[in-house]
Amino acid sequence: METLGEKFQRETKYRRGKKPPSSRVLSYPEEFKRYAQAPVVRLPFLQEGTGPGVWGVMIQRRSIRDFLPEEISLETLARLVWSVGGIRERQGGFLFRMVPSAGALYPLETYIMANRVKGLGKGVYHLYVPTFSLEIVAAGDRSEALTRAALGQGMISQAAVVFLWTAVIDRCRLKYGERAFRYIYLDAGHMGQNLYLAATAMELGCCTVGALFDDEVNEILGVDGREETIIYMGVVGVPASGR
Ligand SMILES: Cc1cc2nc3c(=O)[nH]c(=O)nc-3n(C[C@H](O)[C@H](O)[C@H](O)COP(=O)(O)O)c2cc1C
Repeated sequence: METLGEKFQRETKYRRGKKPPSSRVLSYPEEFKRYAQAPVVRLPFLQEGTGPGVWGVMIQRRSIRDFLPEEISLETLARLVWSVGGIRERQGGFLFRMVPSAGALYPLETYIMANRVKGLGKGVYHLYVPTFSLEIVAAGDRSEALTRAALGQGMISQAAVVFLWTAVIDRCRLKYGERAFRYIYLDAGHMGQNLYLAATAMELGCCTVGALFDDEVNEILGVDGREETIIYMGVVGVPASGR
């Protein structure tokens, strides 16, 4: 019998001579999500960076799950955020980012949970991409709840910062129908890898996280789980045993 996953693969295939699978689009989402009423933290960023070249970073990259209870600076956070959500260049009405995205539609939203960031209160923040700013979604320590929502993985609370990527499904579905789900997951992989590489380049530890209770994470973020839903997470912190 065909499994759910196999059915999904089959029904979202491109086939010659057949139209791509269409779907009912729930809404026409904004290009950029914004918490217009939220207090905003502008992120500092310096273009120039130091550290090893790309080949050195790739070979050093590994999943790190044990962290020291040390803070990272706001500038370090800004570099991490830049690696996944920064605008690389503006061209022909498109704002191209640091990560590739199918159709340059960028369905993924970036949230962070700050545990230990110098000068940034504990809480959940949302990246407003056009101004490279963090909007405060929920102030206060939510690390215990997020740890539970990540199947009890202790690195969620230990890490200096947790990245959470949701998808605004219709941003991609408008163009690609149900095939959008494939692209959303692929986009998320690029986010995760850029975060790994940026963290490694700054001698920080990183581990991406797919094991999570979707509904619980969605509730922490205050998203409905249908139009916008959690896809993937990643933790970054000062590694306990060096790199
Ligand atoms: C999609 C995905 C989901 C993952 N989820 C988790 C997770 O929930 N918890 C965890 O400890 N590691 C998780 N990892 C990290 C993998 O366990 C790790 O990449 C793998 O063991 C290979 O080790 P390396 O990253 O050090 O090369 C995930 C990795 C990927 C790509």
